[in-house]
Amino acid sequence: MSILVTGGSGYIGSHTVVELLNSGYEVVVLDNLVNSSKESLHRVEEITGKKVQFYQADIRNREALEDVFTKESIDCCIHFAGLKAVGESVQLPWEYYENNITGTLCLLDVMRKHGVKNIIFSSSATVYGDPDQVPVTEQSPVKKCTNPYGTTKAMLEQILTDIQLADPEWNVVLLRYFNPIGAHKSGRIGENPNGIPNNLMPYITQVAVGRREKLGVFGNDYDTPDGTGVRDYIHVMDLARGHVKALNKIKDQSGLTIYNLGTGVGCSVLELVHSFEEATGIQIPYEIQPRRAGDIATNYADASKAERELGWKAQENIHTMCEDSWRWQKNNPNGFAD
Ligand code: NAD
Ligand code: UD1
Repeated sequence: MSILVTGGSGYIGSHTVVELLNSGYEVVVLDNLVNSSKESLHRVEEITGKKVQFYQADIRNREALEDVFTKESIDCCIHFAGLKAVGESVQLPWEYYENNITGTLCLLDVMRKHGVKNIIFSSSATVYGDPDQVPVTEQSPVKKCTNPYGTTKAMLEQILTDIQLADPEWNVVLLRYFNPIGAHKSGRIGENPNGIPNNLMPYITQVAVGRREKLGVFGNDYDTPDGTGVRDYIHVMDLARGHVKALNKIKDQSGLTIYNLGTGVGCSVLELVHSFEEATGIQIPYEIQPRRAGDIATNYADASKAERELGWKAQENIHTMCEDSWRWQKNNPNGFAD
């Protein structure tokens, strides 16, 4: 099988490409490099010893997509391409809706014209909003998001659901990721945020490597055991393996299915900081700051559906996630710019 991976040079995409190649799939990557570098794919080739066919192109560019689907014999698309910075999406809503929604509509149109009706879509736990109950299951209500980024995920889930309903030849898997962290064990690929990191783990690793002075902990007065926010951190390689398992679901032609990809274990900000210190021997200075707008107290997954139906279960734990995040950051203090 040949898989088109949009956004395949990005963080989750590059790790997934490693797993796909190691599982014997042929991989074609399409990425406009707006938030990634081609170097990640060179390193994927180095890790796997296999070749990646790369197209530098935008999912909004119909001609470029036509070219890819004409030249390559694609069976399924894993669709990662999109803008993902929550704060930026509040400032630039038009750009986010245009990139994520228009881009996906364009991709879906070219796919169906070429008779490719299999897609795995990167959704997010953000669609659960502030959940009434944890752990959240796939049946938990999809709630109003506090930012345009999250809204694009909920809208795209709806669009894919409606398209599959109208044309049952489509096979759609919606994967709702919890909080991906960690990196490939080689330390050659990992998360490489532009500017000041928004997410917790890259901020911690940049403090550890000396690029930032201290971590700001956003609030210690939540209704959680230690007052700091609780999330379900999942190793990016576990996430990558989840995509390979989801391909089997596509092969079963099972219509539309939704899976949470998380560990089922909640971890607070301070627990993550202390686990990182334990795993690396490096102290992370921090200070308690006010809550961040739009944040919630607690979210973690019930991932039992993925285990039952995909035979997938997260294998890594917080300790190994911290070790692997650190190995990547330590070996590449400036990301792929090194
Ligand atoms: P990333 O930014 O590293 O990867 C996204 C890739 O898409 C980048 O390489 C970027 O250059 C590319 N891209 C963006 N717009 C494009 C366009 N118009 N045409 C072609 N390429 C384009 O992000 P990631 O963390 O790897 O996330 C991958 C997907 O998973 C995204 O859809 C993201 O919203 C989703 N997701 C991420 C997280 C997370 O915490 N990282 C959580 C839930 C969901
Ligand atoms: C955030 C996004 C979510 C997106 C996800 C992708 C918001 C409100 N939500 O989720 O839509 O899908 O990233 O991974 O931005 N924290 C600190 N200090 C920091 C950074 C974070 O204390 O410097 C805390 C946060 O308050 C939170 C936890 O760490 O409690 C995790 O934050 P983060 O990594 O940004 O992920 P989410 O907020 O869960």
